[in-house]
Amino acid sequence: MAWHIGIIFIFSIILSAIDGSPGNVLQLDYPDVTIAAQKNGTFLGQSGLNGDIYIQPNKTNFGTVFFDGYDLLEIIDIINNMPPLWRLHGHTGYSGTFEGGSDINIPLEVLDPESQDVRFELVAGNFPIGLKIAKNPWRIEGIVPDEDAIFTFTIRALDSSDKYADAVFKIETLEVDQCLREMCHNNGQCNNTNTHRGFTCTCPTGYGGPTCDISCTRTALGVGNASVVPDAQMSAYLSRYLSKAENGRLSRSGNNWCGENANSWLQVDLGRKAQIYRIETAGANSTFYTKTYTLSYSTTGTSFDFVNSVNSTTVHTFHGSIGAEYQTLPEPLEARFIRIHPKTYDSRYHPCLQVEMFGCWL
Ligand SMILES: *[C@@H]1O[C@H](CO)[C@@H](O)[C@H](O)[C@H]1NC(C)=O
Ligand SMILES: *[C@@H]1O[C@H](CO)[C@@H](O)[C@H](O)[C@H]1NC(C)=O
Ligand SMILES: *[C@@H]1O[C@H](CO)[C@@H](O)[C@H](O)[C@H]1NC(C)=O
Ligand SMILES: *[C@@H]1O[C@H](CO)[C@@H](O)[C@H](O)[C@H]1NC(C)=O
Ligand SMILES: *[C@@H]1O[C@H](CO)[C@@H](O)[C@H](O)[C@H]1NC(C)=O
Ligand SMILES: *[C@@H]1O[C@H](CO)[C@@H](O)[C@H](O)[C@H]1NC(C)=O
Repeated sequence: MAWHIGIIFIFSIILSAIDGSPGNVLQLDYPDVTIAAQKNGTFLGQSGLNGDIYIQPNKTNFGTVFFDGYDLLEIIDIINNMPPLWRLHGHTGYSGTFEGGSDINIPLEVLDPESQDVRFELVAGNFPIGLKIAKNPWRIEGIVPDEDAIFTFTIRALDSSDKYADAVFKIETLEVDQCLREMCHNNGQCNNTNTHRGFTCTCPTGYGGPTCDISCTRTALGVGNASVVPDAQMSAYLSRYLSKAENGRLSRSGNNWCGENANSWLQVDLGRKAQIYRIETAGANSTFYTKTYTLSYSTTGTSFDFVNSVNSTTVHTFHGSIGAEYQTLPEPLEARFIRIHPKTYDSRYHPCLQVEMFGCWL
């Protein structure tokens, strides 16, 4: 109680000094703080410029701070033990109506006395496909399923000591004719469906992707990128001594795959079916490169057909050179496995190459 006595002492000095001035019965003015009790009972505690006021109960060595008759420390304890409190919607629920195919972003916000370290989990109900609970900031986001339906689910907010509060969400989704929105680019044909996106596009030759906005002749499928076509999807037949199939990906790193002779081939497994429009090859250097090659393809990886010239039964010959050489396929080719068969090269040496393919995924 040491400070208590000190304050009373100071107050009594001030009291006598300001006695009689209107309003103020008790006043302590220090450079940074004003504490005043007024006649009508108002108690004023005010800090100086940019100052903060701390009320710090410390039961260990000092007295209790009372707040409306209650020990302030106990009040703080009770507040800290309260679960999170939903801000935008109570536990009675949140509801909203959304058009299929639209982007949704519903913030998940709670107040929690302990911290803002709160996480959210789906605990029950029917959560729409295409939506997810995402963080930073916490929200429900995604593309609304294109169907007439009502989804009801419960999301739980948990604080750092696992106290929680649940909120029920009710989301109504409306099927809309997605084709009215001109979803398909480049004259793609739109078909309003009940799939997750609510439409499919049938793209004209040369375009691909879900909305036909990808130019297939200009988009590399990613043979050169090991996270698209991993090493295990590169293989070869009759490789030159120590030459690795994965070096056949066009990486511009100076690595190449080299075949032993004109019976060798390099195989790329794209991992899934694609429509291939164009192929790019490059050689190792001015002596080790592939001058001409043929292509064979497969969707299963077991039986392969050769790529023929247009309206012909003759196997098409493609041209390569020392540097990058692009060749357009006679017709777009649907395949997952493609083999590159070097045919002519400097006969004193061996056929070497790196490859990339351009097209659209199916
Ligand atoms: C009490 O008096 C102060 C100053 O005289 C005034 O600002 C305040 O509003 C008053 N409070 C009440 C509850 O009347
Ligand atoms: C209470 O006061 C004592 C003595 O000043 C100090 O050692 C202790 O850390 C304080 N406790 C709290 C919780 O502030
Ligand atoms: C549109 O989609 C439906 C359902 O997926 C399918 O049955 C129909 O054949 C499609 N129509 C066209 C023109 O692609
Ligand atoms: C390789 O592919 C991954 C996965 O698709 C992509 O994130 C990355 O940007 C690509 N790298 C390059 C260099 O294109
Ligand atoms: C050309 O490339 C081949 C295959 O990578 C290599 O064995 C050879 O040493 C290279 N020749 C020159 C002159 O760099
Ligand atoms: C291939 O044949 C089709 C149908 O017979 C024809 O329309 C097309 O013009 C031909 N293409 C070439 C390049 O000869």
